Amino acid sequence: MGIPQPAFYIFKCEQSSPPGMPKPSCVNAQTRELYQYMSNKLMVMGVTTTVHPIRTACLNRCQMGPVMLIEPGHHMYIGLTKEKIDKIIDEHIIKGNPVKEYIITDEYWDEAISPLKMMEMAQG
Ligand code: FES
Repeated sequence: MGIPQPAFYIFKCEQSSPPGMPKPSCVNAQTRELYQYMSNKLMVMGVTTTVHPIRTACLNRCQMGPVMLIEPGHHMYIGLTKEKIDKIIDEHIIKGNPVKEYIITDEYWDEAISPLKMMEMAQG
């Protein structure tokens, strides 16, 4: 038997805007502890060998931050707080039930376009 794949990757946007930048970002004075909070929770639960939290740069949904993307499944969670992270880990990661009320709406997260189709669209 080989080394098991992770069951989940959690990509947490850790982008912060430089001072004076009008665009919102996921990390500011109020939200900077969220990644560490999530990582600590996973560690205390003893699941970090199968659930990998990963710090990322901008995931292009800045207006709805703080955000994180859970794979597999393309589940994008928005407006994160510690309470939401607790529920997402307990319900989605542990029980396998995505928390629909915290997931971005289809209006802002429509079906992906394949790279091949994107190339065809660019060629007209
Ligand atoms: S800064 Fe987090 S999605 Fe853009």
